[in-house]
Amino acid sequence: MKLLWAVTALLLSCWRADASTAPNIRTEPSEVTNQTSAVLSCNLTDATMFSKGSHWTFNGKIIDNSKKDDNMHHTTLKLEKITHTTSGKYECVFLTDPEVKQTIEVRTLPHVAAYKHSEHGNENDKVVLVCVSHGYPLPTDWLWFKQKDEEPQVSITNGTDKYEIKNTPNKTSLTINNLSIESDLGHYICSGSNDLGVATDKINLRVRSRLAALWPFLGIVAEVIILVTIIFIYEKRRKPDEVNDAMKKMLGFQQFPCKYQHNPHKYLCQLAAIVGDFQNLLGHFDIIRISW
Ligand SMILES: *[C@@H]1O[C@H](CO)[C@@H](O)[C@H](O)[C@H]1NC(C)=O
Ligand SMILES: *[C@@H]1O[C@H](CO)[C@@H](O)[C@H](O)[C@H]1NC(C)=O
Ligand SMILES: *[C@@H]1O[C@H](CO)[C@@H](O)[C@H](O)[C@H]1NC(C)=O
Ligand SMILES: *[C@@H]1O[C@H](CO)[C@@H](O)[C@H](O)[C@H]1NC(C)=O
Ligand SMILES: *[C@@H]1O[C@H](CO)[C@@H](O)[C@H](O)[C@H]1NC(C)=O
Repeated sequence: MKLLWAVTALLLSCWRADASTAPNIRTEPSEVTNQTSAVLSCNLTDATMFSKGSHWTFNGKIIDNSKKDDNMHHTTLKLEKITHTTSGKYECVFLTDPEVKQTIEVRTLPHVAAYKHSEHGNENDKVVLVCVSHGYPLPTDWLWFKQKDEEPQVSITNGTDKYEIKNTPNKTSLTINNLSIESDLGHYICSGSNDLGVATDKINLRVRSRLAALWPFLGIVAEVIILVTIIFIYEKRRKPDEVNDAMKKMLGFQQFPCKYQHNPHKYLCQLAAIVGDFQNLLGHFDIIRISW
């Protein structure tokens, strides 16, 4: 059974090879590798074939200004500047009946770019670092390295508790679990390679302590304490009805009537109202007053 499969595969690959070296089109060059510019050309070698015209395609899309409608058996395409965006599969098409075509691959180093060059995570949380690639061919291999300060790069292995790597040809992601401030900050390098070579990019990871994530909350608590203190001070010094006005005066917008619709101090008015309500509420708790 295995042998049968092998023979079938072999036959299929022969048939494919046959089809791709279309007997009646000669290309020059047969492929473009690692060049900055190139002229692609195709000749229809069968002089008896009639062609209504010709054009070129790039990754399956017709290149508009390459369309010709004469019975020329020769067509060229000039690539002034080859980069990862212009690498791919170029195809010359002769509008014979049936049409014939031939592919020329333009191959470059992959282009690798970090999705974000700077990432941060919280201690004990996880973080996902992502790099993407463009160009042709896309990377066949992805690797991740870590670099801390001036120490040499260390390669990262997949499938530990700490690290998980997921790859597709155009994207790689590194998940780092249970972040630690001391050991996980640093530079992470993603490296994608195809058969022309390697391209890399770098991501800087910062890890914040749990406490740092807590600061905004502590800030709110501090604000509430200050507010309550202010209320108590006024409670001690003035009668309840005066507090609202005093609050407004303190906030410096007493001259703006709070009812006015387009009052720029609308929110301060609302705040004063809330403070007033709160204060009135406290007024009902004599115990608190006594304790002051
Ligand atoms: C195609 O034909 C032209 C002339 O018709 C010739 O100059 C050129 O060298 C040929 N190219 C190939 C790839 O055969
Ligand atoms: C890494 O390991 C995880 C699970 O251990 C697996 O799903 C994933 O395919 C692996 N990635 C690579 C690039 O081998
Ligand atoms: C990566 O490839 C997949 C399918 O091959 C495609 O859907 C996706 O848009 C590509 N992503 C990027 C960033 O090119
Ligand atoms: C996370 O790392 C700390 C040490 O940095 C360790 O004590 C803890 O057990 C780890 N937690 C998990 C869930 O692995
Ligand atoms: C492609 O060109 C780059 C520099 O332009 C070079 O470093 C690399 O080795 C070349 N690759 C091949 C396969 O020739």
